[in-house]
Amino acid sequence: MSQNPQKPQKNHPNIQGYKICHYKTATSTNDVAKELAKKSNEEKTIVLAEVQKDGKGRMGRQWISPKGGLWFSIILRPQMSPKEALKLTFITSSAVAKTIETMFCLKTAVKWPNDVLVNGRKICGILTETSTRENVIDFVIVGIGINANINLDSFPANLQDTVTSLKHELGYNIRQKTLMKNFLQNFEHRYKLLQRRRWTVLLQEWKGLATFLGKQVEVVSFDEVLVGEAWDVCDDGALILRLKDGVLKRVVAGDVELRT
Ligand code: BTN
Repeated sequence: MSQNPQKPQKNHPNIQGYKICHYKTATSTNDVAKELAKKSNEEKTIVLAEVQKDGKGRMGRQWISPKGGLWFSIILRPQMSPKEALKLTFITSSAVAKTIETMFCLKTAVKWPNDVLVNGRKICGILTETSTRENVIDFVIVGIGINANINLDSFPANLQDTVTSLKHELGYNIRQKTLMKNFLQNFEHRYKLLQRRRWTVLLQEWKGLATFLGKQVEVVSFDEVLVGEAWDVCDDGALILRLKDGVLKRVVAGDVELRT
């Protein structure tokens, strides 16, 4: 038997043109969405699970996904080159950050390439996976994990100082449906702008939330550890690091940590 149920537990009414397939549990919503995208032409379809048994993070890491979090993946079929798919991660983090700020008056920040932070701790991660055919995008899965109604003690001890949740910040449980509705409104607005080639404006917005820019950081990129000032983020999404000797270094993948 498949590890993921064949049929979602329920389908919600469309929000902003997005269809939501709601599962009680899934291995990883990204994997379920990928399977669905491969065997259909679904677009703007969301796979949401209350619990993920095998949640995936970036760079092969595990994503802890207990009940109470908002774990979902969006199937998109954008008309853009595979290289540009990274832009979807940026507009998604801006949309999550804006949603959290406006709904809960919490100050948010983004961290390259895919994190949303509240009070310097990670509240949301994004995993974007692209499937191509002959260098043309077939589909993109944008997986979003928001630590919503989760107590920090649900996370392993080694993460408890670096992550946070909406429940921890606010002291109460939030309404996930309202959060999803507002997020989709913010996301759709930015997705439309991206398709209308308004990337410069969207990157400017993201940079406005990127409080790590101009600070000393450590970047773990493949098996290299680089230290320098987070100088800028290029048009193609690469991070520019200014090393101690003044050399500007382009980084395309990795994890950024602020140096205190
Ligand atoms: C990261 O920061 O490392 C990315 C985390 C992405 C987690 C989300 S939760 C929903 C979707 N399904 C997954 O298995 N991962 C993403």
